Amino acid sequence: MKYDVVVMGSINMDILVFVNDFPNFSENVVAKGMVTQAGGKGANQAVAVAKQGVTHAFLGAIGNDDFGTQMKRILSDKGVDISHLIIKKDVPTGAAVGIVDHTGENTFLGSLAANMAITSVEIKNSFESIEGNIFLLQMETSKESILTALEAAKNKNMYIILDPAPEGCFFEEALGYADLVTPNSHETEKITGIKVESIEDAKKAAKIIADKGVPNVIVKMGSKGSLLFESKKDHYTFVEAKKVKTIDTVGAGDTFAGVLASVLSENPESLHYAMKVATQASALKVSREGGQDAIPTRKELMQFDY
Ligand code: RIB
Repeated sequence: MKYDVVVMGSINMDILVFVNDFPNFSENVVAKGMVTQAGGKGANQAVAVAKQGVTHAFLGAIGNDDFGTQMKRILSDKGVDISHLIIKKDVPTGAAVGIVDHTGENTFLGSLAANMAITSVEIKNSFESIEGNIFLLQMETSKESILTALEAAKNKNMYIILDPAPEGCFFEEALGYADLVTPNSHETEKITGIKVESIEDAKKAAKIIADKGVPNVIVKMGSKGSLLFESKKDHYTFVEAKKVKTIDTVGAGDTFAGVLASVLSENPESLHYAMKVATQASALKVSREGGQDAIPTRKELMQFDY
């Protein structure tokens, strides 16, 4: 089957703790509350894609355990096609512990387990029955799964969107396959050495990434907005983010990626338009508490002018 968007990526059970201020090293802090919710960059992106109503496939791995069973049910309830999920017999489902402070910013510690156990053979097998317009991935799965998938997607002429997150999992070889790369400010600094504090910084960084062989780069600047550099046109476009009260940033980048890929699959000529809708989607996400439940649907996004 040929899908609009194929997503590959991590699946984690997130254990989130809410605090006023981030604890200091070795300090004991009483938290305001705690939730367990479905997460993982890949799963969040797949939910964002499913909520846009485009056809999709999702490649990811869970363990043969309670978290895995719960993740399968939650993803399926949210409309994600789970028919390509890989079930690892001897490795647990990924889990991530996150701390969200009073500003809504988050810090995560991931135990990536099944995500890091995906093999090249499993990805090759999955790609045998998959065709697609856009391939969207991040870097929270094994290096061999990423390289095999990039190779397969390239051979199938898919447009590849690489979200180089989290920065700790980034490796440069992946850039050579991407049609579009979408780093946030941490990832941009990791890739280019430039600390992005202004649009001028983002422009310099985007050009450096493009010079590494990437035709299109979107530097995400959080609450400020995003900068697109289209190297073939030598053209920069800045999209300002709508001002919202930040409640919870968990999954904001994943919302951006999933909506971007979905809208681009329907409007392949306008990366600028897709970026505007994705920027709005991510602003809406951060204004709401919750993970995948807070990712906006297509109907919600179409209430705005672009
Ligand atoms: O991008 C947010 C996600 O990063 C969380 O859901 C967590 O699981 C980590 O993968």
